[in-house]
Parts: sequence; structure tokens; C-alpha cells
Amino acid sequence: MGAEKPTVALVVSGSVAAYKAPMVARLLLAAGWRVIPVMTASAERFVGAVTLSGLTGEAVRTSMWDPTFAGEMHVEIARQADVIAYVPATADLLARLVQGRADDLAAALGLVAKGPRIVAPAMHPRMWLHEATQRNVAQLCADGVAFVGPVYGAVASGEDGLGRMAEPEAIAEAIIASLRKAGPRDLEGRHIVVTAGPTIEDLDPVRFLGNRSTGKMGFAIAVNAASRGAKVTLIAGPTHLTSPAIVQRLDVRSTADMAAAMELVLGVDLDGADALVMTAAVADYRPAQVSASKEKKGNDRAAIELVKNADILAAIGAKRNGRATPVLVGFAVESAGEQLLVYARRKLIDKKVDVIVANPAETAFAGDTNEAWLVDASGDTALGTLSKSGVAERIVDEVVKRLAVTCLGAASCEASL
Ligand code: CTP
Repeated sequence: MGAEKPTVALVVSGSVAAYKAPMVARLLLAAGWRVIPVMTASAERFVGAVTLSGLTGEAVRTSMWDPTFAGEMHVEIARQADVIAYVPATADLLARLVQGRADDLAAALGLVAKGPRIVAPAMHPRMWLHEATQRNVAQLCADGVAFVGPVYGAVASGEDGLGRMAEPEAIAEAIIASLRKAGPRDLEGRHIVVTAGPTIEDLDPVRFLGNRSTGKMGFAIAVNAASRGAKVTLIAGPTHLTSPAIVQRLDVRSTADMAAAMELVLGVDLDGADALVMTAAVADYRPAQVSASKEKKGNDRAAIELVKNADILAAIGAKRNGRATPVLVGFAVESAGEQLLVYARRKLIDKKVDVIVANPAETAFAGDTNEAWLVDASGDTALGTLSKSGVAERIVDEVVKRLAVTCLGAASCEASL
């Protein structure tokens, strides 16, 4: 894999469907991937390089002949990319990949790729069904290139047929899945529930109490667990993140909604899942009264009466009553300096969970990295500052370690050690 984040070289070739390539980039970015954009000369006629560089934060590579680039561009990009994905892939590009050409950056990347190559073809249905294209498709399949689509549907000419590019979600899922095959499948047969994002407590139809959680950490955990073979249910508070297609998502708003969704998924006996990772920044309080109509401005000072919400994780910890499953992981975000680990350990004990992930509040939200400690019965482990997908990997490792001593398929069984 690339340095930290899983990395894809997203090669855009010249088809009307190129306008959907930025959507694929967005989905991968939301799933914690790094996207290196590459465009063929004809792709530049269909989609702006600025769109791709703006989205990905990376220089768009269009030519191998850039004297300011240190090293051999195709070799360097292929070294950094875990996956090379052609989105869209034109009939011409497929033909050039079959021939093993290296006359532009897109084709050369296909030759020097060290990992999976994925193509998302897009073309007029007659071009797709032409015997030359079908010969090329058969050869590329034999060479180990993975295809996603094309699908039957409306194409640029307005006709319907087989040649429409697969939807961005399916393409992003295929790219994520291509690495999954290479990684450990140590959660096969397991059901992992992850909560993410904030919960929001409404004051009236236009105002609410909320917090700064973006959901990125929880989404990264969900993607990591799914990539290791787990069935994942992601219970998400309001967030702008696009749902990774490989997980089942339930959207909630308030703390009460989240508690209700949890009961639905875990069941009253908690035997609906093998593990719960409670990443959500759950609102501790809600307004005592929610106004059905918009409150009008009044005095210079105003007070809002709040009532305490139920502690979802603590209730589940108490109900688990010493059993090994579901494995419970909680978070502690604190502005506590040296007290961070003290508070985290208190939460570990009070909420009766297996692991607490401790983060300093100053850096926990919005960014793509997290400084984290793992706190459990055996002690504290500093993870340092990692990408959120790197932290996710370590957290899921902890879940796997604990599930390894329980019986597969029987979430309520006792630890066998
Ligand atoms: N949590 C929960 N229900 C709540 C509050 C928190 O399930 N009503 C969960 C969070 O998802 C997190 C853990 O409990 O996994 C710790 O949350 P945190 O907000 O850090 O702790 P609190 O118990 O709310 O304590 P405080 O806000 O005083 O630090």
C-alpha cells in the first residue's frame, strides 16, 4: 500500500462520462483515499483539470514530458498508487492497454502498475459490442484487468444500450474492493456496528444544538471493517460525507434517534452484532422543550433549559453484563492535557467497555489525521498522529484481536480462553 492512505491513480480518458470522474474522486476521498489525478489529452476537452486538482489537492498529471517533475513520472506515480483506475475508459484506451503501449502517461501507467488495474468503460453501445472491442475486453480480462460496467442505460447520444459508464458509487466500491482482496479478511462473517458524526438536538424548526464532529473517523472505521470482510452497519448523525457503498447506512439526527437505531440493530439482548465502535460525538443534553414554531427574538439575555440524554454506550456496557460480545469500543475527546488518559480510563471503567480511543479535542475534528491513544485493561498505547484511516486500522485490529477469542457466528458466546 502507499505511504499511509490507500492511493489510486485516477486516469480520466476522453468520453462524455468524464464529468463523473470527479464524483468518483469525491467518494474515494470520503472513504479516506488519496487520489492522484491523471488525464489523457482528450479528457482535457471534457473536464477541467482545475476541478480535479481542486477536489483532490493534487497536481493533475497530463503528460510525461514535464521537466519540473523529478524522476520518471509514470514510474513514480505507479510507485505511489496501490491501484490504477481508468474512469472512464474509452474504446481507444482499452485497445492501447491491450497492446501494452507507453505513448502517453495513461497507457504507460498500465504497463508499470504494481497493483490492481480497473477499467470503467464508457462508449456508444455499438462501439462496446464491436468485435474489436470485445476482443480487447477478453484479452484485458485474461490479463487480470478488472472491469466495472459498462451498464445498460442512456448514453450521450440519447440512445439506450450497453455502454453507459457504471455509476460513481459502483466504481468507487470496485476500487476500494480491489485492495480489500489483497488485505486480511479477518472479519469475514462478523457484523460490526459503527456510529459516526454528531447528534443534533433541535430547539425549534430552524435552530439546533450540535457539535463539530464531521464523521470522518467513524466512516474510516466502517470502511476498514468492511474491507476486512465484515458486514458493517454505519449509524450516522448528520454529516456531509458520502456513504461508502460497501456499508449499510442508517441516518439519524438526535441522540434519541441514535439510541433507537442502535436498539433496532443490536436487539434487546445485544446479540445482533459482534462489535460496536461508538465513534459518534453524542450530544449529552437536549433542550427541555422543543418549540413547534420558530422562537422570536426577545430579551438581551436568554437561557435554554437542558435535560440530560441517556448515555447510549454506558447503557449497552451495563446490559452486556460481563459477556465478551459485542466488543465495545468508545471514544474520549478531551481538552484535558495531561488528564486525557485519566479521563479516558475513567470512561473505560464507568461505561464498562473494552477499549477507549483517547483524542485531544484541539485536533480531533475536521482534519484528516488524529492523535490517538488506546486505553484498555492492560494499559495505554500511544498511536501518535496517524491518518484517520491509519487510526481506523489500529482500532479494527483491536476488535479483531478480541473477537479471535469468541465463537464465530454466535455473538453472545463467551470468550473461550
Ligand atoms: N456516548 C454515548 N452517549 C452519550 C454520550 C457519549 O454513547 N450520551 C459515548 C460516545 O460515543 C463515546 C463515549 O461515550 O464513545 C464517550 O463520550 P464523551 O462525550 O467523550 O464522554 P461523556 O460520557 O459524554 O463525558 P464528558 O462529555 O463529560 O467528557
